[in-house]
Amino acid sequence: MSIEEFVPKTAYSPLPAGKVGYESPSNIALIKYWGKHGEQLPKNTSVSFTLTNCKTTTTLSYSPLETEKPEGSFDFEVYLENERKPDFEPKIGQFFTRIEQYLPFLRNYKFIINTSNSFPHSSGIASSASGMSALALCLLQMEQKMITARSEEFFLKKASFLARLGSGSACRSISGPVVSWGEHNNLPGSSALYGTPFIGGIAPVFEGFQDTILLVDTGKKEVSSTVGHNLMNDHPYAENRFQQAEKHIDQLLYIFKNGDLEGFVSLVEQEALTLHAMMMTSKPYFILMKENTLSIINKIWEFRKETGLPVCFTLDAGANVHVLYPEKDKQEILKFIKEELAIFCQNGRYISDFAGKGSKALLK
Ligand code: PMV
Repeated sequence: MSIEEFVPKTAYSPLPAGKVGYESPSNIALIKYWGKHGEQLPKNTSVSFTLTNCKTTTTLSYSPLETEKPEGSFDFEVYLENERKPDFEPKIGQFFTRIEQYLPFLRNYKFIINTSNSFPHSSGIASSASGMSALALCLLQMEQKMITARSEEFFLKKASFLARLGSGSACRSISGPVVSWGEHNNLPGSSALYGTPFIGGIAPVFEGFQDTILLVDTGKKEVSSTVGHNLMNDHPYAENRFQQAEKHIDQLLYIFKNGDLEGFVSLVEQEALTLHAMMMTSKPYFILMKENTLSIINKIWEFRKETGLPVCFTLDAGANVHVLYPEKDKQEILKFIKEELAIFCQNGRYISDFAGKGSKALLK
């Protein structure tokens, strides 16, 4: 599909004041996206588990304006748990500017966006993937009321396409439990424009895969995503990294198909450390792991060696650790987390999550 297909071809029928709502989860990348080009296009293919418990719930109230807003300006207010958040508004304004050509009604309505996150505000968990995907879905649900029926498949593709323009990884939060983003020869239907759910070829051992998020550093991100992605632009190892990610997709395909947990553990950890290695070797350079991140990693390695259980870690662009393991080993691994890893978390905090189905409409 090309971007033109997301531009509506027919006029909208006017809509009285109303409200729509969606909840959308966060996601955790197994093969990482780090480096972009053009308008939010990834330099390499990535694959993630869509999460379940870490999610954003957004309602969008709209009312028609008497006169259309001038080009490039929009009428909206953003609230987090009913509290006005003017500092969120520039990002939403930029998002509206980017998507206006695909939703040409945006200058004709006043919007009240009310959003809440299931995870604590100061948890260090990025809310951009869940937040932007929830907002994209709300806007699309509104558009749906103004046009003739279209397929569910197209709706989900366009939602992912729009979410990507808000935050790249947000395009992988619409569906679940495993979503790819980026065009790859061995992923049928894959695209750089939107996320594509992985169809077929996932062994049962990966169903309901667990992700316990250890909150090591709950402060604000040290390096914003935008700055981080830009660091890849003239990074000495960037090209090799992008090629490696494409090869890793093939390896992951094999791993998923064959239920190869040993392969999974080693691929996922390599990806996490490569992401951080890219940041440690860029100019300027950053170390985003904290001492406790390393202590946790070492403990996981020790535990894995002792027990032979297939538990591994992955990291985002920060110090928190995502501990990944099969559902069947939940009891034993949660015990280990509680007894040996929680002490490395801020106030002993961690969040239990698992791979799930993706977004859900709240209001019809
Ligand atoms: O969607 P962004 O621009 O915030 O980038 C997210 C990048 C990582 O979380 C580090 C990796 C990924 O693929 O999600």
